[in-house]
Amino acid sequence: MKQQLVFATNNPHKIAEIQKQLGDRYTFRSLADIGCTAEIPETGRTLEDNARMKARFVLDNHCQDCFSEDTGLEVLALNGAPGVDTAHYGGPQRDAETNNTKLLSDLGDRKDRLACFRTVICLLKDGQEHLFEGKCEGRIATFPTGHEGFGYDPIFIPTEGDGRSFAQMTADEKIGMSHRARAIAQLEAFLKMQPDAARPTA
Ligand code: IMP
Repeated sequence: MKQQLVFATNNPHKIAEIQKQLGDRYTFRSLADIGCTAEIPETGRTLEDNARMKARFVLDNHCQDCFSEDTGLEVLALNGAPGVDTAHYGGPQRDAETNNTKLLSDLGDRKDRLACFRTVICLLKDGQEHLFEGKCEGRIATFPTGHEGFGYDPIFIPTEGDGRSFAQMTADEKIGMSHRARAIAQLEAFLKMQPDAARPTA
C-alpha cells in the first residue's frame, strides 16, 4: 500500500520528477489537490526560510502534514547569486527564458562558470520540522542546449555528467545526479525510519 504525502507545490515539473523517483512507493498530492489556491509568499532570505514558509502555510491553513522544497542556483563568480532569487532573477514574471538570458549575460565570456544547484526540503510531520538538503555541482554553459526538464536546465552542465546539459538528459539521467533527487532520497530515508512507514496515511 502506497503512503500518501502532500507536496506543497503546483510546479508540474517538480511533481513529475518526484513521481518518477518515488511514484512506485508514494502517492503525492499537490497544492491544487488539497484545494490550496493561494499564492504562498516566498519572501525568505534563505532557501531554508522559503521551504519552511511554504510548508507552514499548508499546515496552518489546511491542517495537513506536508513537505515543501525550495531550490536555488548558486554561481561562484557571482558571489552565490542568484541563490534565493533564482526564480525571479530575470524579473517578476519568473520566466525561464528571461532568467537564463540574464544569467548568461551576467557571466558574459567569463571562464569561471562554476555553479551549484541546491534544494532544501522542509517536512512538517507530527508537529516536528525536518530539513533535508541536496546539491549538484556543475557549470553554466555559454549557450542553452536541450529541450527536456525546466528552468535553468538548458544552461546547467553537471560535473558528474558527460558534458550534456540537464535539458539534454532523460528524466532518469537527471534524477541520477540532481540536487532535488538527492534531497528527496534523504526525505525517503527519513520516512522509512518512521513508525508509520508501512501504513497509508489519509
Ligand atoms: P523554486 O524552488 O520553485 O522557487 O525554483 C527556483 C527557480 O529555480 C525557478 O526558476 C525554477 O525554474 C528553477 N529550478 C528549480 N529546480 C530546477 C531544476 O531542477 N532545474 C532547473 N531549474 C530549476
